Amino acid sequence: MRLDKYMTAAGVLTRRECAAAVKQGRITVDGLPAPRADIHVSPAQHVCLDGTEVVYRENTYLMMHKPDGIVSATDAPGERTVLDLLPEQLRRLHLFPCGRLDKSTTGLILLMTDGVLSHRLLAPRRHVEKVYRFTVKFPLSDEDVGQLENGIRIDADSHAEGFVTAPCRVIPEADRTHGAIVLTEGKYHQIKRMMEAVHNQITTLQRISFCGISLDPALKPGEWRYLTEEEEAILRAAAQ
Ligand code: URA
Repeated sequence: MRLDKYMTAAGVLTRRECAAAVKQGRITVDGLPAPRADIHVSPAQHVCLDGTEVVYRENTYLMMHKPDGIVSATDAPGERTVLDLLPEQLRRLHLFPCGRLDKSTTGLILLMTDGVLSHRLLAPRRHVEKVYRFTVKFPLSDEDVGQLENGIRIDADSHAEGFVTAPCRVIPEADRTHGAIVLTEGKYHQIKRMMEAVHNQITTLQRISFCGISLDPALKPGEWRYLTEEEEAILRAAAQ
């Protein structure tokens, strides 16, 4: 592949920036200055920009700690989106969020360029697990927990159709207003609507895990990092 394509795919430089960096002698291939931006390089070669290795990625996979008030979409007129939190060179890669969180929901969101993998992970028949930490306004009774876990009827509203939720797990903490819920589906405002169905109300909601990948505790709201190879392998295995 051409060196400038390699740099673009790695999310590091545009083609024009690559041509300029070559002229300035900032790019080396296997230790030697790259003579031109259109030379061919292979992913096995050692490409450096300003002495730092540039890792080739066919697809890019990130995790982000989504803050409150940010929309998990690629474009939302008048709103800040998760893409606005990424540096310029990554925004050029056409990343998109794998699934959605409500604007007020915080926590783990995966961003990727791999449409096939994302589509598979979100397919309802795969039952990918999502774990959320919640707080509710009123303590949950055992009966509420039983109803939520067994599946509960959600009435239609002006935004979404009614449905019966699939069985799930609800793990309340001692005070019964905090807890975790593990879902294998992801309908519009699902947890908020489930809590409303037991006459309660979500006050905070944070996703802490998706498909066995946990939110990295080192990431503050608004921060992101690349997925590790192990995490990418977990996603690929789940999408088989
Ligand atoms: N359920 C909700 O109600 N909101 C989310 O963001 C995710 C799950």
